[in-house]
Amino acid sequence: MGIFSSSHRNGTACWEKVNVIVSMKLKGLKDIDLKEKRVIFRVAYDVPLKEKGKHMIVTDDSRILASLPTLRYLLRKKCKVIILTWLGRPGGKRVEKLTLDPVSKRLSELLKKSVKKLDACVGPGVDLALSKMKPGDVVMLENVRFEKDEEEGNNALTKKLSKMADVVVFDAFAQSHRTAPSTTGILSAVPSVAGLNMEEEISKLSKLLEKPKAPFVVILGGAKMSDKIETLINLLHVADVVLIGGAMAHNFLKAQGMKIAGSLVEDASHESKKVRKKIYQIAEDILAKTKDTYVNLGSGLNMPKIVLPRDLISAHDTQSPSQTCTIELSDVHHHIPWNWMYLDIGPKTVALYSKIIERAKTIFWNGPLGYFEESAFSHGTKGIAVAITKSKALSVLGGGDTESMIKKFKLQRKFDYISTGGGAVLEFLSGKPLPVIKYLLKN
Ligand code: 3PG
Repeated sequence: MGIFSSSHRNGTACWEKVNVIVSMKLKGLKDIDLKEKRVIFRVAYDVPLKEKGKHMIVTDDSRILASLPTLRYLLRKKCKVIILTWLGRPGGKRVEKLTLDPVSKRLSELLKKSVKKLDACVGPGVDLALSKMKPGDVVMLENVRFEKDEEEGNNALTKKLSKMADVVVFDAFAQSHRTAPSTTGILSAVPSVAGLNMEEEISKLSKLLEKPKAPFVVILGGAKMSDKIETLINLLHVADVVLIGGAMAHNFLKAQGMKIAGSLVEDASHESKKVRKKIYQIAEDILAKTKDTYVNLGSGLNMPKIVLPRDLISAHDTQSPSQTCTIELSDVHHHIPWNWMYLDIGPKTVALYSKIIERAKTIFWNGPLGYFEESAFSHGTKGIAVAITKSKALSVLGGGDTESMIKKFKLQRKFDYISTGGGAVLEFLSGKPLPVIKYLLKN
């Protein structure tokens, strides 16, 4: 989505029209005959890699682990499994650092079975290898984004991929928000069902939009606001309180006329003045529309729908963790120095947000509340993470950096659900139908 979508063209957030009802039943593994079938197992193995010596290795295998239950089911059915995914954004050409070799190696280790990685995604060599497959074999096609046709959405690739299989088992929730030959293309051409991870993601995230237990507290942070505007607007329909942090908070403070000096308000690609102005306008509009909506959370805690930080930690830059200053936002005489930036929420904000979290029955969290990569600026984000782990609410996390941030604090086992999706989570919660869903719905 872009902040220049028609609904925002006049700087007015069009939230009355946003859909929040998502009731849906997907076709699953039991709804199709899989015995000894040739199956394209469409996964989202877009996993982080790092160089180790001469090789690349997978540094986070959560998405591979999430696909194993479905893969094991297919192997029990003696399917010939053809794994299809993209990794990174190679732009339609081969990029050595983005081959799937380290991914197939990690999958073989986890599955305890050899996974043959092919050197291409389509072509005569691939056809030959697939023709030799026996029931129970697993092969992995090369990164589909090495194909120009995938990047350009050409039907020729859809045809080549579709010929490979009798069935598509779609388990790539994290890539389900994109229209491409390897997503909507093959789903439209081959009988398809959802895998177990896909079903779980839709079921867990749907709970947030369909009658979440109140109070429903949403926490939104991260470095970019533009890709979360529609998600925020949609969640305002169902959430009782939205706690804001990170760069998103800076936009709201600026919209209230406060000084934010050099604080991040968007990532570099959206730094143009026009875009910034548009984002401030949207923030202003959201504040105006919610200003009279208060919720009583009990014990005298009466909160507005949008809650902004009370204090923030500032520093000259991210490399200056030893010299910081806490700015109380209610103190009209104490401003952030003009060449400093806000890098974390302050202790008063952590205390207030924690009190609200303690009273929640449902929580959704997306995005860090500060520059958590530097430990001096990670206390706010960590404080909120700990508050959620102590609460009795159903806690769901997902989108963008959220998972890596939680892993840094080693708290990942303490939440009810962490989605495997990045952008797909935000898209789903924005209420717009994911493009793959219509091919996976039960009649
Ligand atoms: C993910 O990992 O979230 C997806 O693979 C991202 O897809 P994109 O490169 O189209 O954003």
